[in-house]
Amino acid sequence: MEILNGKEFAQEMRNNVKTAVGKLKNKPTLACIIVEGDKASEIYVASKQRACAECGINSKVIKLPNDISQIQLEKEIEKLNKSKEITAILLQLPLPKQLNEERAINKISPEKDADCLTFHNFGKMFAGHSDFAPCTAYGIIKLLEKHNVEIEGKHAVVVGRSNLVGRSVAALLEHENATVTICHSRTQNLKKFTKDADILVVAIGKPKFITADYVKKGAVVVDVGINRVDGKIYGDVDFENVAPKCSKITPVPGGVGPLTVASLMQNTCLLFDEQNKK
Ligand SMILES: NC(=O)c1ccc[n+]([C@@H]2O[C@H](COP(=O)([O-])OP(=O)(O)OC[C@H]3O[C@@H](n4cnc5c(N)ncnc54)[C@H](OP(=O)(O)O)[C@@H]3O)[C@@H](O)[C@H]2O)c1
Repeated sequence: MEILNGKEFAQEMRNNVKTAVGKLKNKPTLACIIVEGDKASEIYVASKQRACAECGINSKVIKLPNDISQIQLEKEIEKLNKSKEITAILLQLPLPKQLNEERAINKISPEKDADCLTFHNFGKMFAGHSDFAPCTAYGIIKLLEKHNVEIEGKHAVVVGRSNLVGRSVAALLEHENATVTICHSRTQNLKKFTKDADILVVAIGKPKFITADYVKKGAVVVDVGINRVDGKIYGDVDFENVAPKCSKITPVPGGVGPLTVASLMQNTCLLFDEQNKK
């Protein structure tokens, strides 16, 4: 069994970004919008700022009050869309309940959409017309490639169907010629599907939900889940019991998480390049 070390690979990705940014006269700027009130989001935004500093990318954090209205939030996004100083915009999710995430995301100009989640960019990615993809999904595919995981012709099962993770990683796996099954909370007899997976990607947000009896012997398992329980972080996969059954598995922490941040750095540079082509 091989552990797919995302931390190491993310460092390699950030080093590559740093080299590329070092050659630029003007540097890209990433703006992260965070609506206050979610502790985990604050940790993620801080790690994105650290990664920017390491890569030579300028970063700006826009902290908004927890009771902000949809209109005010969208005005803030509009300001960043118009600002010549800003290359890329990331809206940290989740948003408080009074806010409509989909509407807010789609206020971001597609040219500045760092996580490729606007309908415009997501649609292009889904149709296979772009190499630009949501950060987590992109990081997962690159990690599998790095570890020589054969994707073509394999049965990939993705549990979870959010645009942010499940649906986008399913699309990228299908682009790599896997046969893809997407499962979700209404899937009946989930085990029947997961047990047939050569590649199993889990993104549901339920600590240790996938136990050894859900997994085929020799499968490659990618655990996207980040669940905080009593100050400890757990994935969606019961790592101790599942790992001995797998050929390869990502740990939590140190698996997919660091790759999401490294991919964000790469996406910011891609947007910068596109904007400067014009
Ligand atoms: N590592 C990273 O960088 C990274 C990045 C993003 C997210 N995450 C983590 O990944 C997890 C998922 O995030 P998300 O944003 O995709 O969450 P989400 O938007 O809440 O989506 C969860 C998905 O899981 C499905 N689901 C929930 N319970 C299920 C069950 N019992 N059986 C089968 N499917 C079930 C839901 O189905 P329905 O659609 O039917 O409701 C939904 O599609 C979270 O732990 C999050 O913190 C990690």
